[in-house]
Amino acid sequence: MERTGTPLVELKNISIAFGGIRAVDDASIDLHAGEVVALLGHNGAGKSTLIKVLSGAYKRDHGEIRVNGDVVQINNPRDAKNYGIETIYQTLALADNVDAAANLFLGRELKTKWGTLDDAAMESEARKVMGRLNPRFQRFKDPVKSLSGGQRQSVAIARAILFNARILIMDEPTAALGPQETAQVGELVKQLKADGIGIFLISHDIHDVFDLADRVCVMKNGQVVGTANTDDVTKDEVLGMIILGKCPPGAVPGPGAMTAEQAA
Ligand SMILES: Nc1ncnc2c1ncn2[C@@H]1O[C@H](COP(=O)(O)OP(=O)(O)O)[C@@H](O)[C@H]1O
Ligand SMILES: [Mg+2]
Repeated sequence: MERTGTPLVELKNISIAFGGIRAVDDASIDLHAGEVVALLGHNGAGKSTLIKVLSGAYKRDHGEIRVNGDVVQINNPRDAKNYGIETIYQTLALADNVDAAANLFLGRELKTKWGTLDDAAMESEARKVMGRLNPRFQRFKDPVKSLSGGQRQSVAIARAILFNARILIMDEPTAALGPQETAQVGELVKQLKADGIGIFLISHDIHDVFDLADRVCVMKNGQVVGTANTDDVTKDEVLGMIILGKCPPGAVPGPGAMTAEQAA
């Protein structure tokens, strides 16, 4: 895919430490509209921490965040939402005992002119957004706890995009799902891409993301090893980035890339 113009998001030279541990160390990454950037690396590499700086869950020690080219201050999740940044955590944070529509509008319920809950309007909106994301979804009347993992995932995604998310962060979205449901989440991601949403897809499994991602960014020990178009690198090369920190010719090296002396 051709990437022109100003990125949706730029994270520049982000660092954050917990006690003495540099969880993220001088990390830079960007994301364009309609693009999927996969963030890969072992457990503890710093993926979630970097992304939590963008979602407002953590405050960075250093670095800059730009949205559509403008420097922004993101100090809490509300700030992030105001810039159209939505995060879907592994836990999904759904209200299990109520249905899909109630989940989509949780805390942002639609009201009638008499101030009562407008269930008809919420269900109608829910059907619209779910129809776009996952046309096969029909279980609008069931509590979400009775839905499959993939269906629950689509409810969580629908909730995120209902309020005009431009940037979606998915942290290990398929970690708890079987192969069929993982494929279903893949379909959702393709649909969101087609709608022009930019997606950071975090994973520690390269096979999970290789088909979906336009670019991959590998982290190791809090640092970016390198970033590459998915078409310019092989899975083996990406494994080498994850395990050894070895940056292949098709990738742009980051501060965490192994030096020539280390490689020798
Ligand atoms: N809230 C926190 N307090 C202390 N250390 C943390 C915290 N969050 C993450 N870390 C540490 O930061 C490093 C990166 O973790 P994380 O971003 O969760 O990695 P990943 O998502 O790549 O598995 C790890 O060493 C982890 O233990
Ligand atoms: Mg993580």
